[in-house]
Amino acid sequence: MIGKLNHVAIAVPDLEAAAAVYRDTLGAAVSAPAPLPEQGVTTVFVELPNSKIELIHPLGDASPIEKFLERNPKGGIHHVCYEVQDINAAIQGLAAAGMTVLGDGRPSIGAHGLPVVFLHPKDFCGTLVELEEVAA
Ligand code: CO
Repeated sequence: MIGKLNHVAIAVPDLEAAAAVYRDTLGAAVSAPAPLPEQGVTTVFVELPNSKIELIHPLGDASPIEKFLERNPKGGIHHVCYEVQDINAAIQGLAAAGMTVLGDGRPSIGAHGLPVVFLHPKDFCGTLVELEEVAA
């Protein structure tokens, strides 16, 4: 069902400093910060030849990554994102298999303007998983 690794997300306490490390020290192409109010984060995307790194920083009062950064004050890997062709079919199959789809169980619009859902870490080796629907 899952396709390519779309990105690995790293929660960071300082978005500018993190972007500078990837841009200046590691020599990667780095996007401008993009606020994503629906997800409660500001994102910077780091382009790699075969995937992306998504640097995420809390946005607003009730950001879902606030607690994660309290536990990981220097930042840390927050989730991995896999591509799927049909997110609703994926959700149905996962729910039928007893997996926990987070939120209201329906896709929201993610960082690329595409439908995404998050899956509970307890079902996936302790890793928060994001699925993103991409065009075939
Ligand atoms: Co993501």
